[in-house]
Amino acid sequence: MFRGLQRVLRPASSGFVVNGGFFSSLAADSQRFDSVRFAGKVAVITGGASGIGKATAAEFVRNGARVIIADVQDDLGRAVAAELGPDAARYARCDVTDETQVAAAVDLAVQLHGRLDVMFNNAGIGGDMAASSLGAIDLADFDRVMAVNARGVLAGVKHAARVMVPRRAGSIICTASTASVLGSLATPAYSASKAAVLGLVRAVAAEVARSGVRVNAISPHAIPTPLAMATMAQWFPDRSVEEHRRILERDMHEMVGPVMEAEDIARAALYLASDEAKYVNGHNLVVDGGYTVVKAPNMPAPAAR
Ligand SMILES: NC(=O)c1ccc[n+]([C@@H]2O[C@H](COP(=O)([O-])OP(=O)(O)OC[C@H]3O[C@@H](n4cnc5c(N)ncnc54)[C@H](O)[C@@H]3O)[C@@H](O)[C@H]2O)c1
Repeated sequence: MFRGLQRVLRPASSGFVVNGGFFSSLAADSQRFDSVRFAGKVAVITGGASGIGKATAAEFVRNGARVIIADVQDDLGRAVAAELGPDAARYARCDVTDETQVAAAVDLAVQLHGRLDVMFNNAGIGGDMAASSLGAIDLADFDRVMAVNARGVLAGVKHAARVMVPRRAGSIICTASTASVLGSLATPAYSASKAAVLGLVRAVAAEVARSGVRVNAISPHAIPTPLAMATMAQWFPDRSVEEHRRILERDMHEMVGPVMEAEDIARAALYLASDEAKYVNGHNLVVDGGYTVVKAPNMPAPAAR
């Protein structure tokens, strides 16, 4: 990280002078992700046509990877792949509720590029987000949500491991949610499906670790992707799109100032996918600006000194 530091810093009467104004670029260099080591990685990204998956595909490609965008939105998926470039991205129709389609997406990566380095099991649905009492819960909706968000992730883990374990290398990443750790954010179906993602990651972490493969979860908090915006439209039908966006970007967060974006998850995924995270396994990387660790104690404010 500090290689070459002595070369660019030389003492002067006014303190340290930096050759050619290099100090700022050196600082930037030393903080920059090592994309050289990421270049050439091969990734499958489910749900890659939109939102977090799309941002991650772009981030991976920017760092030299080749990606398969696996989704059910054919037009969107093809457009995203075309935007990223034919050498870098390919679209594959892949409904994650169908194991054979997940297997085929993984096989396509191997067929095109000889291997699979990264599997990002990210496809997800919100299901029916309407607030309903326990007695009104629709179990068919529960099954639909679990089929995509939990069973689909397990299918991705299974088939990624099938090709990664023999090579004794690979990183599997699964999108959970802050709804996996807090019960108050979403419906029982969605929360249970995301808690299941964490359960799956933890359940297989030991087995894959013995095979040189890592598996981790990322838990994003609210980001105004189509999925989350559709939830807002259902919860607040009388409010405008701008208000829905403000709720997702501001009201639902603790951090003041920076706004959480899909790119924040893309960079977290890039880290977990890379060799920089070579010892990170079975982890849930919560990206929420501290939201899930901040809980008001529901009591009157203590007297100030
Ligand atoms: N946006 C948020 O606030 C938020 C927060 C926490 C977790 N998440 C999770 O992030 C993931 C990505 O969602 P997003 O917010 O980017 O939403 P999004 O709607 O932009 O993207 C989801 C993608 O998944 C695809 N998809 C849905 N069902 C599929 C299936 N059966 N097979 C293959 N692809 C399918 C969709 O076509 C879409 O392209 C989801 O797992 C979601 O639950 C989102």
